[in-house]
Amino acid sequence: AIFSFTCLVGAQNYRFSSDFKFGVATSAYQVEGAWNVSGKGENIWDWITHTYPNYVLDGSNADDTCLSYYKTKEDVQLLKDLGVNYYRFSISWSRLLPTGHSYSLNEDGVRYYLELIDELLDNGINPVVTMFHWDLPYPLHELGGWPNPLLDDYFVQYAKKLFQLFGDKVKYWITFNEPFVFCHHGYGSGVLAPGYVQDGIGSYLCGHTVLLAHAKTFKLYNDDFRRDQQGQVGISLDTLWYEPASNSREDLQAATNKIQSVLGWFAHPIFSTAGDYPSTMRERIDKLSLEVEGYRRSRLPRFSTEEIDLIKGSSDFFGLNHYRTEICQTAPEFLYESPSYLKDSDAFCYSPPDPNAAWGLRKLLNWIKTEYNNPPVFISESGFADNTGTLNDCDRVDYFNSYLEQVLLAIEEDNCRVISYTAWSLLDNFEWSLGYQSKYGLHYVDFDDPDRPRIPKRSAKVYANIIRTKAIDS
Ligand code: BG6
Repeated sequence: AIFSFTCLVGAQNYRFSSDFKFGVATSAYQVEGAWNVSGKGENIWDWITHTYPNYVLDGSNADDTCLSYYKTKEDVQLLKDLGVNYYRFSISWSRLLPTGHSYSLNEDGVRYYLELIDELLDNGINPVVTMFHWDLPYPLHELGGWPNPLLDDYFVQYAKKLFQLFGDKVKYWITFNEPFVFCHHGYGSGVLAPGYVQDGIGSYLCGHTVLLAHAKTFKLYNDDFRRDQQGQVGISLDTLWYEPASNSREDLQAATNKIQSVLGWFAHPIFSTAGDYPSTMRERIDKLSLEVEGYRRSRLPRFSTEEIDLIKGSSDFFGLNHYRTEICQTAPEFLYESPSYLKDSDAFCYSPPDPNAAWGLRKLLNWIKTEYNNPPVFISESGFADNTGTLNDCDRVDYFNSYLEQVLLAIEEDNCRVISYTAWSLLDNFEWSLGYQSKYGLHYVDFDDPDRPRIPKRSAKVYANIIRTKAIDS
């Protein structure tokens, strides 16, 4: 152990290979601040937090948050101290294109991102850029947001600008972060911006547009940029691991339905050999949709054959965001009264007795290997929140040690192709539902200090040591 008193660790004899990459992640709205500075346009998070001041649990917003917009050199120094191979950050669409449309280029946005990218490269850190991490330009929300099929064209034009402006320097692109979360919660449950409650309808329309936008962006890169820029384009999908409560047929089916309706919804069209939405999802939603004058009008839209082919295979890697595990059983009767999305997946899931069930990640990696023919998995987020902000963050250290141990086991013993691990997050930052109460950072940020000083927590030192030695600290 590198400390005189240790946090709990799982001992492992394996080491990560020299080509395995480690990184950390943030997203623009959560860390940048400077919400209305130098020509930046308004996005749906600016709008919802200003219009409904109690939308976020602690009544906060990310107008200033970590002030990362002003701290490029300081933050890159933190990354350098960690020794990460890459930094995954997102571009604020409305900082670059204030109206959302590609003719509205904001020069200060270009300057800011170029400075960040150059500072990273000068320090030997690869930029991994997320194009969309939930902060939709407000004018596009006025068109109806992602449920409107027109949005895919706006997105492809934005992506084209990104390739043109930054593609000679950025070699890893992630089109969308967690479409399940922003579609389901933005246009279904309403707990994320723009807060639409159209459960089991708006979310599927959103997902449909997003899948097409992603695939068209991948095609654009292949057609016009790949030869010169030689980069990779993927997508980050999220899922918990859903462990069946028992071996009963019903519980096994419930857990399968659940993962298909969360991960399969987006992964099946892109990564399976058949393409299209998972059949379990299609059948269940079709069955539960309205029959009008003898016709069943499904709430889940349909792709044409050409669209299925366009989407199939449209990723160079499988970006995976994974935080924890839940236990699932078949849904009790009363849930049939509840919103349609729950009915659509027909599973009732809850936290396991062991909250740090890292074994779920290994099971999930194996599930992806089998279901999608062992694609290269880029773990693009994984992390642990506490609300203490303590610098001696043993729980977070335990989390990273135990999750990384499961990654090693999946690689070494199960032949899963995992190529990287990304800790969420570099900094304590603004959390979408909980504001500043929930702290995911490897670095503590003092939000009471107008200068937002950063202090490394114990987990930062442990993570740096793992990266340096390629071994879990034990
Ligand atoms: C992921 C997001 O869902 O989880 C991040 O990509 C987010 O942006 C993180 O901060 C933590 O989310 P939550 O829901 O646990 O606060």
